[in-house]
Amino acid sequence: MVDVILGLQWGDEGKGKIVDYFAPGYDVIARFQGGPNAGHTLYVGGKKIVLHQIPSGIFHEDKTNLIGGGVVLDAVTLKRECENVAAFGVDYRKNMFISERTHLILPTHRAIDKASELAKGNEKIGSTLKGIGPAYMDKTGRNGLRVGNLLDKSFTTEYIKLRLKHQKILDSLNFHEDISAWEEEFFEALDFLRQFKIVNGEYFLNDKIQKGCKVLAEGAQGSMLDVDFGTFPFVTSSNTISAGVCTGLGIAPQKIKEVFGVSKAYCTRVGSGPFPTELLDETGETLRKTGNEFGSTTGRPRRCGWIDLVALQFACMINGVTQIIMTKADILDNLEELKVCNAYKVDGEEHSMVPFQMNRVKIEPGYKSFEGWKKDISAITDFAAMPQQMKTYISYLNEFLGVPVNYISNGPGSHQIVKA
Ligand code: GDP
Ligand code: IMO
Ligand code: MG
Repeated sequence: MVDVILGLQWGDEGKGKIVDYFAPGYDVIARFQGGPNAGHTLYVGGKKIVLHQIPSGIFHEDKTNLIGGGVVLDAVTLKRECENVAAFGVDYRKNMFISERTHLILPTHRAIDKASELAKGNEKIGSTLKGIGPAYMDKTGRNGLRVGNLLDKSFTTEYIKLRLKHQKILDSLNFHEDISAWEEEFFEALDFLRQFKIVNGEYFLNDKIQKGCKVLAEGAQGSMLDVDFGTFPFVTSSNTISAGVCTGLGIAPQKIKEVFGVSKAYCTRVGSGPFPTELLDETGETLRKTGNEFGSTTGRPRRCGWIDLVALQFACMINGVTQIIMTKADILDNLEELKVCNAYKVDGEEHSMVPFQMNRVKIEPGYKSFEGWKKDISAITDFAAMPQQMKTYISYLNEFLGVPVNYISNGPGSHQIVKA
């Protein structure tokens, strides 16, 4: 049996904390897509840590963690992350596995990412510049090198061949920065990677499922950043939605049971691209300050706005979300008025659907207003004790989305979560 936790917005919904919270109920926690563009924040014994590629179950000693074949892996970042978790006393060599199908991010992928963004001028995607797009391009272009190849004698020869191809791309993009230092640390990190437990991820997981183990698939990014269904071209390069669990881990769709969709009580986006409910006013600034909305991976300020139920309903539909987990509800504590977007006016016409090419049309969000609860909810542990105004807000969401908000996260701490 497999359950999924994934983001319903543009990433940074608080997935890391939620996976960490639910991990005790599972045997295996597996990342199925994305790479070090992700930044998942956890508080362990009150201390903050940000994970990029290591699954967020790593702090639970008896759990198995798998980096699945759908991930693109940066060995240098992984090495650094492993050192960070080891400082918390985690024996990552014992309970972490990597699929042999996982594609490697090469130093030249990072260089191509940077060069492509520079070449785009004002049309930048706002990539995290971790080499994600170029690594997935080499996967679909049937060029990439995989973790399983690390053990091949021909690895270095294959690397050099690909390096030459990449050099041509870099030359065509007029990129001439010296990346020899990146390459040096890359080869060092490959030696580190070779010492890991490299497995056939699909047999590994299906065997465990057959034996009755419970698997939790951890999504990265968010549904609106999905390469097929997000705000293309302002998206990441993988399938962030529940379908990505099947292709990223080698799991059949019938094995998936619960799909937990994580959404903030408001909305944020980092990087460029459409964001209909973005607030460029004081309220947006208040959300950013109160919510400490700065990227976990890049430190960039996140764009902030009201919750967008049109986009959220779309995300629930394409993911088959069975339960919603609402995070950062405490960030709304001091607001007099809350708004939720329940319709779009697209080029003057009312719509309830997410349009094709959001970036090419003018979207005016239609709002419904709610009274704020104006109360500190961060210490509340029981839904009955939540303010009535919040209950009204939640029941509107439940009714609109047709999927229940079953959990409300009211602080960054690992146990600040209330069952609705
Ligand atoms: P992820 O990428 O989805 O794992 O989310 P990030 O870690 O990038 O960003 C979420 C941020 O919100 C982190 O700093 C978390 O510590 C914090 N966070 C998560 N849930 C809550 C919550 O309910 N309340 C508050 N105040 N912060 C939260
Ligand atoms: P987590 O897992 C928020 C955004 C980037 C950019 C676009 C493409 O922490 O939620 P990429 O590096 O993939 O080429 O960037 O996607 N992006 C994220 N935004 N959270 C993330 O991950 C993100 N990963 C990528 O900002 O707009
Ligand atoms: Mg994040």
